[in-house]
Amino acid sequence: MSYQTILTARDGTVGIITLNRPEALNALNARITTELGQAVDEMEQDDGINVLVLTGSDKAFAAGADIKEIRDKSFIDVFDEQFITATWERIARCRKPTIAAVSGHAIGGGFELAMMCDIIIAAECARFALPETKIGIIPGAGGTQRLTRVAGKALAMDMILTGRRLTAEEARACGLVSRVVPDGQHLPVAIEVAQEIAHSSRPIVMIAKEAVNKAYETHLAEGIHLERRLLYSTFAVEDRREGMTAFSEKRKPEFRNR
Ligand code: HXC
Repeated sequence: MSYQTILTARDGTVGIITLNRPEALNALNARITTELGQAVDEMEQDDGINVLVLTGSDKAFAAGADIKEIRDKSFIDVFDEQFITATWERIARCRKPTIAAVSGHAIGGGFELAMMCDIIIAAECARFALPETKIGIIPGAGGTQRLTRVAGKALAMDMILTGRRLTAEEARACGLVSRVVPDGQHLPVAIEVAQEIAHSSRPIVMIAKEAVNKAYETHLAEGIHLERRLLYSTFAVEDRREGMTAFSEKRKPEFRNR
C-alpha cells in the first residue's frame, strides 16, 4: 500500500514505520493515524514480519494530536468517530512486539503513542511531556492510565497537571524508557533490539508479550494464573521443543514459528 504521511520499510523480519509529517513535527491528524493503523494491520498480517518498530524524525517522534485539526470538533464529532479508539490505538492492539524509537519531541498524543508500544528506546535528546491541560483538554490516548501505571501517581500528577517535560534519562529512571542511546542511534539500536527479538520463535514471543501486558490489567493472583496457563500453552508450540533440544545439543535453534 502507498502512504502519504508515513514511510514503511523492512529490515529482515523487522517492519519499520516512520511518521512523516515534518512540516507539523508529525502532529497526529486523521490521515497519519489512519495510515499508521493500516500499516500495523499490514505488518501484523505479514508472516514475514516478527517485530514492528515505530519512529519519527530526529526532531520529533510526534508533537501530539493535530491541534489545528481537532480545534473545531464538537462532542458529537469525537463521539461518533470514536476519536482515538478507531485509529490511534491500533498499535496498542498489535499482538507482535512493538518498539518505539524516539528522538526529539514526544509530546501529548505523541508520548501516548510511544507508551502504546512495548519498549521505548530514546535518543538523549528525546523529551516527553503531556501538556494537554495547557490547551484545555486532558491526555486522552491512554496517558492518564499508562503513565500512572508505569511511573506512579506522584510523577503522573506532576507531569499531567503542570505539563513538565522529562528528559530521556529521567524517563529511563522512572521506567518509561528501557534504553537511552546517543543522538541518532535510537533507530539503529531499536532495529538491533527488534532483530534480537525476531530471532526467537514468533508465537512464543507473542505469548510472552500477552503475559506481561496482563500485569497492567489484573490483580496478581489472576495474572499469575494466566501466566501459568500461557506457560503450559508453550508446550504445544513446536519451537519450544526445538529451543530446548538445540540447547541440549549445543547448537543454535532453528525456529519455524509454529
Ligand atoms: C498541529 C503542530 C503541532 C500540533 C507543532 N505543530 N505541533 N500543529 N498540532 N500538535 C506545527 C506548528 O504549528 C508549526 O507549524 C510546525 O509544526 C513547527 O512547530 P513550531 O512550534 O514552530 O516548532 P518549535 O518552535 O520547534 O516548537 C516545537 C513544540 C511546539 C515545542 C513541539 O510545536 C509545540 O508546543 N507543539 C504543540 C505540542 C502540544 O501541545 N501537543 C499536545 C497536543 S494535544 P507552522 O505551520 O506554524 O510552521 C494531544 C492530545 C492527544 O496530543 C490525546 C487526546 C486528543
